[in-house]
Amino acid sequence: MATNKELPGLLRTHHCGQLRTEDIGKEVTLCGWVNKYRNLGSLHFIDLRDKFGLTQLGFETFKGDITVLKKFSLESVILAKGKVRARPESAINNNMPTGGVEVQVEEVRLLSQAEIVPFLPHGVIESTEDLKLKYRYLDLRTTFLQSILKLRSDTARKIRTALYEANFTEVETPILYKTTPEGARDYIVPSRVHKGKVYALPQSPQTLKQLLMIGGTDKYFQLCKCFRDEDLRAERQPEFTQVDIEVSFARQEYIRNLATKLVQTVFNLPENFQMPMLTFDEVMRRYGSDKPDTRFGLEHMDVTALFAKSEFKVFSSAAQAGGLVKAIFVSEKTGSLARKDIDALTDVVKPYGGKGVAWFKVAGGEITGGIAKFITPEIHKSLQQLAGTTEEGTWFFSADNKAKITHDCMDAVRRHLGKQLKLIDDKAYNFLWVYDFPLLDYDDETKRFYALHHPFTSPKDDDMEKFMHGGIEELKKIKANAYDVVCNGYEIGGGSVRIFDTNVQQKMFNVLGMQPEECQMKFGFFLEALKYGTPPHAGIAFGFDRIMMLLARTENIRDVISFPKTNAATDLMAQAPSFPGQEQLDELSMRFLD
Ligand code: AMO
Ligand code: AMP
Repeated sequence: MATNKELPGLLRTHHCGQLRTEDIGKEVTLCGWVNKYRNLGSLHFIDLRDKFGLTQLGFETFKGDITVLKKFSLESVILAKGKVRARPESAINNNMPTGGVEVQVEEVRLLSQAEIVPFLPHGVIESTEDLKLKYRYLDLRTTFLQSILKLRSDTARKIRTALYEANFTEVETPILYKTTPEGARDYIVPSRVHKGKVYALPQSPQTLKQLLMIGGTDKYFQLCKCFRDEDLRAERQPEFTQVDIEVSFARQEYIRNLATKLVQTVFNLPENFQMPMLTFDEVMRRYGSDKPDTRFGLEHMDVTALFAKSEFKVFSSAAQAGGLVKAIFVSEKTGSLARKDIDALTDVVKPYGGKGVAWFKVAGGEITGGIAKFITPEIHKSLQQLAGTTEEGTWFFSADNKAKITHDCMDAVRRHLGKQLKLIDDKAYNFLWVYDFPLLDYDDETKRFYALHHPFTSPKDDDMEKFMHGGIEELKKIKANAYDVVCNGYEIGGGSVRIFDTNVQQKMFNVLGMQPEECQMKFGFFLEALKYGTPPHAGIAFGFDRIMMLLARTENIRDVISFPKTNAATDLMAQAPSFPGQEQLDELSMRFLD
């Protein structure tokens, strides 16, 4: 447990958030940053700051040369020794934990004078994001970022404690390693000793944790760094942290129970918390997304059959081409949208390949607007039945020959409407265990399969036979023994039961189109390891940064990382990546082609 008792050897006796009226009369030494300096002619005050808070320093009884205070530019670090005194009644500040007292300074030392800082961490003027990243150490002085660092540390401890209590062993695995495919590009590190060869940084410790199971580790976990060269977004960084877990002799149920326990602990949920479960097919049908935000309704309805013979060609042609038409109903009670908000939905679906959002309104018993002329009384009745209500309101539709485009567009519309109509309770955490994912994704253009999770994921037991012997059409339908944990629209974790038979693993590499030599070169050691006695095993990895985003209630992953990278994968502070020196290139026998 944390304790306030400090070891001897600090320059200060108290921190800047500590002193209270009980301390009046004590001789204290404080150290910190000059947050504010007020010079009222005869009276001088400094607000001294550290991560714990602010304490006011007064100089009424100061015997030294008061003009030294002029050197104490904002953000300078000083040491002040003096006596704790009650503030006069009129100066008591109840908004400040230390607001009842001040330290009357007897001795003061300038430890580090600050030049004019590019921005004041606690200033009223907002700095730009780029400037804050360039001077990350100044931004880190804010209460906001310091409180998140502390929260992150406390959360890591909670997770470790829970896993130690469940008999897990934390094992570190190498960073200089070999490809561990998770669907991104590898970051590679050239070897100086072995010319022309490279290490790959792990996209996750996937094969390593499975080898730990083969090695008899039983229950493994690690808070580890993963490296992925992929397109970055608000919830993605090129290097990020996973809570990585693997368990021998475990079925999906064990991992789900463990994940439930971890989520309950980390998010301080009631003891009896249970994670709602939905299959992949069901989340796609109801939300058009495998990571839906379930804090609000506006669920999708499949209206393809209803419009198969409609006069509205956009819908009937999508239906006839084997596509998908989906609807969302917003009842009058839920909210209403102005015409310009409805028109703006076209821009919401554009990035997902949508051409528009069709709509109509029911008000005062009349069907008006948008595609109203195509809505016969029969169609309207069927829609009311689907929605399970006769309430009036507005209907929105999206259609496409490709089901994926319709899902994506309606997912975007749903999220947009949820925000716009203020349907989201931003204090809630809504979890979901999504399971029964497809095993493989078939790309019509390249005419090949990709692993939806990763190539070590086992098909469901019932599908094993089809996996080993089925043709392309059968393979497309196979379900994986894989699962995700979703919270408020974020995928915060994912895992699977693993393949533990070398023939099945070899078959998986074949299905993924890997040539025998490539397979041998990349995973020969792994295929061999599976032959020497492999326990059935399963696991999961949580995105620790995403958990922290949810806990800290920020939508920016950079807020929860001490030294984050930009969306272009650069570190603006240290200017990384940077050009290597010629000497380094020579040692590595490397040169740039242009
Ligand atoms: P997966 O690739 O789903 O699974 O990753 C697990 C979790 O890690 C988080 N995550 C990320 N967080 C921040 N930035 C990124 N670029 C990023 N990529 C992923 C997500 C995700 O759910 N080895 C498997 C796990 C397993 O099968 O046990 C794996 O890495 O929250
Ligand atoms: P149009 O017949 O092209 O004038 O379109 C009529 C309405 O249907 C407009 O509101 C369009 O935004 C909308 N629309 C067009 N394409 C689609 C689509 N694929 N799915 C849903 N609505 C669409």
